[in-house]
Amino acid sequence: MEIRQGNKEDLEDIYAIEIESFASPWSKKSLALDLENPLSFYTLVEDKEGDILAYGAYMKLVDEGHILNIAVGKDHRGQGYGSLLLQAMIQEAREHGILSMTLEVRPSNQVALALYEKYGFEIKGRRKNYYLDNHEDAYILWKEDL
Ligand SMILES: CC(C)(COP(=O)(O)OP(=O)(O)OC[C@H]1O[C@@H](n2cnc3c(N)ncnc32)[C@H](O)[C@@H]1OP(=O)(O)O)[C@@H](O)C(=O)NCCC(=O)NCCS
Repeated sequence: MEIRQGNKEDLEDIYAIEIESFASPWSKKSLALDLENPLSFYTLVEDKEGDILAYGAYMKLVDEGHILNIAVGKDHRGQGYGSLLLQAMIQEAREHGILSMTLEVRPSNQVALALYEKYGFEIKGRRKNYYLDNHEDAYILWKEDL
């Protein structure tokens, strides 16, 4: 198992995980543009064969890290890869001088909420009708003790 930074060469593998993970996935074009954004940082979990099992991305805004996405390929969930990935992203963010991290998550996504709470994220707010596909609200989570 290897954790490494992602780059534009990884677009196809990241997109494959994206479309099997989200009701409203990012388009390949949006992902391609974001992979070129110098403020966006991609982290990958890769197995011994070089297959990408999970990816996460955050954007650095001054001293805040805004988590854009975290997703584990659907055949690999529940095996600790999400935890490994989030820990690696937090560590990398610290090394980039980030002091706090934030993200939005669906209140119905109990697995993701459990993952974030395990690593010290707390619910600090709510955005009404945030998700376009089903008009679900979003919880706003922060981890302030990076
Ligand atoms: C959310 C997601 C990234 C978690 O990754 P994962 O590799 O499955 O999670 P892990 O195996 O590391 O488990 C992390 C924690 O999640 C919770 N969890 C994992 N699987 C669970 C399940 N089936 N039911 C309930 N809780 C679960 C547990 O609290 C677990 O911690 P523990 O093992 O110490 O009890 C992954 O399920 C996923 O990609 N989901 C689809 C995309 C998504 O929703 N991303 C988040 C957007 S905000």
